[in-house]
Amino acid sequence: MNQISLTIDGKRIQCEEGLTILEAARSQGIDIPTICYHESLTPPGLCRQCVVEVKGARVLLPSCITEVKDGMVVETSSPRVMRARRTILEMLSASADLSEAPDLKKQIDTLQAQTERFKPKVPNIQEPLIDNPFYIRDYGKCILCGKCVQVCSEEVQLSYALTVAGRGFDSRIATFYNRPLPETSCVFCGNCIEVCPTGALKPRKEFENEI
Ligand code: SF4
Ligand code: FES
Repeated sequence: MNQISLTIDGKRIQCEEGLTILEAARSQGIDIPTICYHESLTPPGLCRQCVVEVKGARVLLPSCITEVKDGMVVETSSPRVMRARRTILEMLSASADLSEAPDLKKQIDTLQAQTERFKPKVPNIQEPLIDNPFYIRDYGKCILCGKCVQVCSEEVQLSYALTVAGRGFDSRIATFYNRPLPETSCVFCGNCIEVCPTGALKPRKEFENEI
């Protein structure tokens, strides 16, 4: 692989062509927060929490899917970047219960996001789905990162029990035809629980110990 050089946060670095900005930054110990990214899965580029400012680019770019280029000049924590990340956290706080999302709570604290800023007047309360002996699905905590669907499909388990249903505001994680999990191709491998960042999917035992 060819080596290229670029500047990240004022530091001139060399790295392999083909890396993403996120990978190049992390290789230098520069932390960029992520939400939908998982190092073992294909980055879907959904959440935009990893955005950075690239000199000459019209908009902020998601670092998890943007490849480095020779001569690039990147700012990972400019005021514009921090404002964008803060707003994303504020909007997520309005759409889901983040009380069991430790990484997101840490990011909220770090960026001093105002979690009440976009809070709806009528809270979006959803009862957890309990349709099998092993897992509960508490979609009031779901931020639609898509990781559960990724691990359930060709990226890991090949079960295809979960999918994204609906479009736009109506998008949600569901089983095909909304069937109860035992009536789907789910093999209860636990991979979806492992990658869920918000506690929307969790072992039933853990849930029962909480109530
Ligand atoms: S259930 Fe969890 S892993 Fe699946 S999309 Fe929602 S937050 Fe992401
Ligand atoms: S972490 Fe890059 S878009 Fe979600």
